[in-house]
Amino acid sequence: MTAELQRIYERKQEISPESPFAVLFVCLGNICRSPTAEGIFIHAVKQRGLEKYFLIDSAGTAAWHTGEGADPRSQQVANGRGIHLPSKARQAQREDFIRFDLILAMEKSNLDNLQTIKPSDSTAVLMMMRAFDAEVNEMADVPDPYYGGPRGFHDVFDMLERSSNALLDEIEAGFSILK
Ligand code: 4NP
Repeated sequence: MTAELQRIYERKQEISPESPFAVLFVCLGNICRSPTAEGIFIHAVKQRGLEKYFLIDSAGTAAWHTGEGADPRSQQVANGRGIHLPSKARQAQREDFIRFDLILAMEKSNLDNLQTIKPSDSTAVLMMMRAFDAEVNEMADVPDPYYGGPRGFHDVFDMLERSSNALLDEIEAGFSILK
């Protein structure tokens, strides 16, 4: 288990339906990358029958798309792989650092922006999403696909699928109730 997840484990000790493992995926607009990560993670958790032990959400550092569903290009790629994206965009807020155990930034600029709103009493662990992608080093970005073509959306999906499954494997191994 990574040192960061170990910190969550030490603080929570165990998870339960009353005290679920709360994870927030964060990108810039909350319409492409973080809704895709959220949808993939929800799907993986459901497939393993663990949904009562998780609180899963996504947010953007910007408020531009508040209230919007996922970008149609992200939805198309996800739906083609059997994944539904339920998100409605919202902006990340200070309270998220209390409500969530783990906050995963899609790229370094998201991490930097989150640091600027992080309250001093934050209990959340803040990490890069691709820290869980075995194909790259831990500071690798999930590149912004918004202004690019369809290939970018497929590549983002692949990165997020690898990262999400590895993250869930680690959480499942760390918390005995999930084993
Ligand atoms: P996301 O992608 O951060 O993955 O949701 C973007 C969505 C919208 C914009 C930029 C990136 N935008 O400039 O509106």
